[in-house]
Amino acid sequence: MYKMSILNQLILGKTGCVSYVIYCSTKRECAIVDSFDGFEEDIHEEIRRLGYPSVKYVIDTHTHADRKSASVYFDNEFKTGGIIKSDKTKFQGSCVKTKDGDILNIGEIEVKVMHTPGHTYDHNCYLIKDKLLSGDCLFIGDVGRIDLGGDPHEKAELLYKSLRKLEKLPQNTRVYPNHVGAAHAIDSEGSFSTIKAEMESNEALKIKTIEEFYQYMTEGWPPKPDNWQKIIQDNLTG
Ligand SMILES: [Fe+2]
Repeated sequence: MYKMSILNQLILGKTGCVSYVIYCSTKRECAIVDSFDGFEEDIHEEIRRLGYPSVKYVIDTHTHADRKSASVYFDNEFKTGGIIKSDKTKFQGSCVKTKDGDILNIGEIEVKVMHTPGHTYDHNCYLIKDKLLSGDCLFIGDVGRIDLGGDPHEKAELLYKSLRKLEKLPQNTRVYPNHVGAAHAIDSEGSFSTIKAEMESNEALKIKTIEEFYQYMTEGWPPKPDNWQKIIQDNLTG
């Protein structure tokens, strides 16, 4: 039987932020992942381009600290019954909480939830066969910072363990992050990577002790995003 599933990557202007639309053409269902305030039209345009499939889920990888989420807007717009989030979230609005290993079905596409805390406590990656939506856990050439709230020691250890989990995925798994471009000291040119490429070239993945990793995660990072505490609070309000 002819079957096609699509992961569409929407790079939002010069921000380097990335939203995704997961689309099953067989059942004409889709899901919106990590949408952002001010970039709603990018999502609408993509849904138009796909011929208006039904939107089954609005999904977040984590509570963003650098940009206001548009997930509440899309959840209301398409009446999806609550934003898909990790059960570790402190979000006060309508949401459906996931656990590690849960499966979300979008038409015939199976999306596996991987709880990967570290950047935030509530971080999920989402695995779609050989494609990983890695959120702000794993970037091209770097990982997501741990210094925006919470206990840095605890978060460094959580991220260290989450990365070990991602390393166990098949080497050819493609990695689709929530940011492309500049992250930490690295400027990525591509818009996706693979587990193999990251294990070969990503400094953060080469570190094999928690002590060294803590040092890496707490030294030499760029300034924190403006108003990051308020942005987190706004994104938790619903
Ligand atoms: Fe983030």
